[in-house]
Amino acid sequence: MEKPAITDYTISPAIAKRWSPRTFASTPVATEHLSSLFEAARWSASCFNDQPWVFIVGTKANPETYSQILDCLVPFNVSWAKSAPVLMMAIARTTFNHNNKPNESAEYDLGQAVATLSVQATSLGLYLHQMAGFDAAKVITTFNLPENMKPMAAIALGYMGELDTLPEELRAKELEPRSRNPISSFVFDKPLS
Ligand SMILES: Cc1cc2nc3c(=O)[nH]c(=O)nc-3n(C[C@H](O)[C@H](O)[C@H](O)COP(=O)(O)O)c2cc1C
Repeated sequence: MEKPAITDYTISPAIAKRWSPRTFASTPVATEHLSSLFEAARWSASCFNDQPWVFIVGTKANPETYSQILDCLVPFNVSWAKSAPVLMMAIARTTFNHNNKPNESAEYDLGQAVATLSVQATSLGLYLHQMAGFDAAKVITTFNLPENMKPMAAIALGYMGELDTLPEELRAKELEPRSRNPISSFVFDKPLS
């Protein structure tokens, strides 16, 4: 199913096409495609070029890690994310590599890397759905994360699935129109007050 952004101004097709589905085809994600996604993330900008992003990736071909990630999601997210052939955890490293001092831009940089990855995904016919609905403490213990590693998002990834595989309630959510605030609500050319 396509749900292109209805834009006021022209944007790149890969950005307009991206959206967050809750149904995925069972087709595995080609290893080549998965590598291209992380190559895109790799070339994202970051403060001090510190690249403070870490991804833990589980595929249905690597079921142990896949189930460990699935077990960390809140029940609502489990209900649909389990159809995705790939699940990942996106983690920010909150200290700089060069001096071990706190990196206040780590979460910003991770988000930027995931945004870059998501545009690459769309251009390969893949979709991702990011989730804040997961148990961070469980992720930390499951994956032995050190103190400077902060799990920020779980991500379901795959090719688009069929709407009729979803229960009624989720099907209705998939069909909801996409909406956004107008540009004038977040871009200013003077002090905010
Ligand atoms: C950081 C983040 C956390 C999110 N958490 C969840 C979540 O836990 N469960 C869910 O179903 N969707 C989640 N979403 C998806 C958003 O609801 C979705 O991106 C938003 O409604 C905009 O829709 P679009 O991505 O299709 O444009 C999350 C998205 C982001 C970026």
